[in-house]
Amino acid sequence: MTDKILLTGGAGYIGAHTYVALAKAGFTPVILDNFSNADHDTPARLAQLTGKACLCHECDLLDQKALDDVFKAHDFAAVVHFAAYKAVGDSVARPQAYFNNNMGGLINLLGAMENHGVTRIVFSSSATVYGDSPVQPIPETAPLSATNPYGLSKLVGEQMLGQMQVAHPEWAISILRYFNPVGLHKSGLLRLSPENTTQPPENLMPRLLEVAHGTRKQLSVFGNDYDTPDGTGMRDYIHVEDLARGHVLALEALINTDQSHTVNLGTGRGYSVLEMIEAFAKACGRPIPYEMVPRRAGDVARCYADVTHAKEVLGFETKYGLAEMCADSWVE
Ligand SMILES: NC(=O)c1ccc[n+]([C@@H]2O[C@H](COP(=O)([O-])OP(=O)(O)OC[C@H]3O[C@@H](n4cnc5c(N)ncnc54)[C@H](O)[C@@H]3O)[C@@H](O)[C@H]2O)c1
Repeated sequence: MTDKILLTGGAGYIGAHTYVALAKAGFTPVILDNFSNADHDTPARLAQLTGKACLCHECDLLDQKALDDVFKAHDFAAVVHFAAYKAVGDSVARPQAYFNNNMGGLINLLGAMENHGVTRIVFSSSATVYGDSPVQPIPETAPLSATNPYGLSKLVGEQMLGQMQVAHPEWAISILRYFNPVGLHKSGLLRLSPENTTQPPENLMPRLLEVAHGTRKQLSVFGNDYDTPDGTGMRDYIHVEDLARGHVLALEALINTDQSHTVNLGTGRGYSVLEMIEAFAKACGRPIPYEMVPRRAGDVARCYADVTHAKEVLGFETKYGLAEMCADSWVE
């Protein structure tokens, strides 16, 4: 069987880290990316990291003809579908752009898979599909809901895949619900240049970096009156290298068993904003000034994964803890 795996959005943050993990595991990853949120020299850096030429197609998923040409050029064992817009706040301002890119891109990809007989897909979903879950840690069976256009695009993506499975029982579909990916490859080579970032960073880690670099005066901590030990919001952060390894395990499971699965990828542990500030200050050796401000609309008190199913189905367990996640996020 072919060992080629198509990575849509493979030049992006999680895609590039997964590229390295797949190459290390003996697969031949092939990138398809329109570089709307990626550096053009990422393929060269991936070649440097893996010691092998990087197969990469500059292609927009919305361009059906170009997409078809990529499928004609290779025999793929499976697809990992990362390509999407991902910023929640941006999605509230530009819902149509998110529906067009995230749902439209998936629709075209599914069509190309059908036309070319590719029957295995890993889909980048998100913990955001759990909305404000009253159950913590969150199992995959928890009720799903969307609280913003980005979340809706992921929820509908999962539902589209569910309907594809009905029509094609032989397909093997992996839905991976990521919690909060942080960190970078230890080489530092996979860091996106700020000038090429079109998806505004909205998460805690990019803001901690800005404060440490002095481009932001202080961190605003949104709410210290949540029902958590120190009153600040708690999230499940996962090192991107652990996340990348999760994709290798998911692909191996699809290829070896042809069984579908839906799995959380997190550590199963929540860290509060104050714990993150303390750990990051230690990692970068600089103080992180912060101020307490009122809660932000739409934020939830806690969100962390029940990781039992990931262990059962994929044998997945994280290796990296908070100190490494912070150390590997810090770039001078
Ligand atoms: N980073 C996170 O915090 C997070 C959390 C949960 C889920 N996810 C999901 O994981 C996936 C990857 O996220 P990421 O952080 O690596 O994002 P990213 O923006 O770094 O990577 C996405 C890549 O897709 C490409 N792309 C976007 N639209 C495209 C299109 N129409 N055609 C071709 N290429 C296109 C971009 O150029 C980029 O390289 C996304 O689907 C995202 O929604 C990310």
